[in-house]
Amino acid sequence: MSGNPITLFSPFRVGSLELANRVVMAPMTRCFSPGGVSGEGMAGYYRRRAEGGAGLIITEGTHVPHWGAANDPDCPDFHGEAALAGWSRIRDDVHAAGSRIIPQLWHVGLLVKAELENLYEEKGELGPHHVGPSGFVGGMDQPLIRARPDMTLAEIEAVINAFGGAAMTAFRMGFDGIEIHGAHGYLIDQFFWADTNHRTDDFGGSVRERVRFCEEIVRECRRRTAPDFPIFLRISQWKGQDYTARLVRNPKELESFLGPLVDAGVDLFDCSQRRFWEPEFDGSDLNLAGWVKRISGKATMTVGSVGLDRELIESLYGQASAPVSLERLLDRLGREDFDLVGVGRALLVDPNWTDKIRRGAVEELRPYTVEALASLS
Ligand SMILES: Cc1cc2nc3c(=O)[nH]c(=O)nc-3n(C[C@H](O)[C@H](O)[C@H](O)COP(=O)(O)O)c2cc1C
Repeated sequence: MSGNPITLFSPFRVGSLELANRVVMAPMTRCFSPGGVSGEGMAGYYRRRAEGGAGLIITEGTHVPHWGAANDPDCPDFHGEAALAGWSRIRDDVHAAGSRIIPQLWHVGLLVKAELENLYEEKGELGPHHVGPSGFVGGMDQPLIRARPDMTLAEIEAVINAFGGAAMTAFRMGFDGIEIHGAHGYLIDQFFWADTNHRTDDFGGSVRERVRFCEEIVRECRRRTAPDFPIFLRISQWKGQDYTARLVRNPKELESFLGPLVDAGVDLFDCSQRRFWEPEFDGSDLNLAGWVKRISGKATMTVGSVGLDRELIESLYGQASAPVSLERLLDRLGREDFDLVGVGRALLVDPNWTDKIRRGAVEELRPYTVEALASLS
């Protein structure tokens, strides 16, 4: 440990990115961007979280320039003149409020919404642009169905290129870095996960091979930006298709998973858990971000139920397994298990969450309710 103890309000640096504090707005899809274009409402929504003190904003998932990237026309694109004009405004507003912002680059692969699955039922197949490593489609509580052929090498190359193109756009537009969405069962995670990747070529097989698609995406993003342009990668064990899924079962597998990604140029791993306090492997209380930092030597971010009150956690997940107070989070931050703290729903319901925590004004915090999802307050 060095110097002063690390707190939520200690500065942090990774590559060219300097943050005033460790609070990060976690990426949250809001579906308020008709035709893929974010307007004034979205700019105000992000600006209020920046004014409320969050050190960094990771935008909601935004589609890379590939036809199969999206599964909802109301989610934003990261390509095309109108969509990028919307993002320029958001970037300016967040910077003017003294915060930093990076877009989360997203491709859904074959984790498609119910409407598209219904289309599949009716027509017998998804659109030709919907791609996944081995063609498996399926959502939560639905069996994985092999609905498409394996992605071809040309399709793989096109998607790698699409991520590289979006990274270059972010770099040229003056965003403060990028986050690649490699979590929650979307395209990159479909390559990571053995249940959805049955390939027998260089992109499938052992953990090492299943990482190759993402590794090439990271390399391409690095090649088309700059050596110090921050590249975050979001990973998770859990999938939108299965909350109990495990990408890696032990620290050794985690090491095989992380090595190629570190070599390709990831600066920070955003380690998504549903509950930050849950230990990842037996024999240690380290969570996923803790293990990833220990094994990779890279910076990490934790996320998962930070700032949600105990009653809500109990109603969402059943009995809370341990006290989940902020003190527990701060202890882990102080002992340098991870570097940044992602806050999702608590910031969605309360733009001033960060400043209220800074002032210790806990009684002023707005409790999270699902109704918050219905508007852009
Ligand atoms: C409405 C909503 C939308 C989300 N959209 C995304 C997304 O676009 N990309 C992503 O990686 N995670 C997404 N998530 C997950 C959050 O980033 C975060 O990991 C999760 O909500 C747990 O953090 P929290 O307990 O602080 O909310 C979303 C979560 C919510 C509630």
